[in-house]
Amino acid sequence: MFLVKIGGSVITNKSKYRVFREKKTSEIIDNLSKTGEPFALVHGGGSFGHLKAKEYSLPGPLTKESATGFSIVHRDMVDLSQKVVKIMVRTGLNGISIPPAFTITGDSLRTDIFQDYFDRGFIPVTFGDTYIRNNRVEIISGDDLVLQLAAKLKPDHVIFLTDVDGIYDRNPKKYRDAILLRSLAVEAKFEMHGTDVTGGMENKVRVMKKISELGATVYLLNGNISSRLHEIGTDRFIGTVIK
Ligand code: ADP
Ligand code: IPE
Repeated sequence: MFLVKIGGSVITNKSKYRVFREKKTSEIIDNLSKTGEPFALVHGGGSFGHLKAKEYSLPGPLTKESATGFSIVHRDMVDLSQKVVKIMVRTGLNGISIPPAFTITGDSLRTDIFQDYFDRGFIPVTFGDTYIRNNRVEIISGDDLVLQLAAKLKPDHVIFLTDVDGIYDRNPKKYRDAILLRSLAVEAKFEMHGTDVTGGMENKVRVMKKISELGATVYLLNGNISSRLHEIGTDRFIGTVIK
């Protein structure tokens, strides 16, 4: 099976509040469907998550102000997730969105729910979300959810789709001479994305390495060119692989 994370940088315009990129998302779902592999899906927040989280200083202590931020970010994320599921259903895929805020105990997702739906032929969908822990409003990133789900679902392939061709030795959006790392053997310098409250590329690479230690092959590729999904495992593949 595939466990797939679609980055907020692909499904939204990350700098404009609540701008959903429907066409790109449809192309990804269509290409995933055409691989014929069963899969589970995690998506990021992009401009449905990060902008309001920043505005309300989340994560942070639970206050009157941050509680409002909690409700706004959670509402926007559920809304984004339903837009994704709507496309899935239109494509003939039986998606079900499972919000982390309902199923997190401590910092751990109830992954058995995902396994149960998957075993019955549904496609579980989850997303970076806000949740309450002790007296704080917390945020869990889609990348961290992928790690927890990988431990339970034991996918053969874990695929991260983002807005660049792979992992580079430095941020390719800042350095035009950055080099694409086809595998992660080379030591890379990583920089955080400016608008990200969940750690950007640095956290993603940390998560990818941990998943690889669980035994899955992990890929990072450009979700804006999702036809590349069909080239996974071939010589033509463009992206980064961690084995
Ligand atoms: P997503 O929203 O898809 O989860 P992020 O925005 O968190 O992704 O991370 C992708 C961004 O990370 C890219 O747009 C890129 O500008 C930035 N980035 C920083 N350092 C690197 C690097 N070494 N290699 C690739 N991308 C990097
Ligand atoms: C962010 O999730 C969730 C919220 C801010 C609520 P991610 O960290 O996985 O989102 P992207 O992929 O970077 O946009």
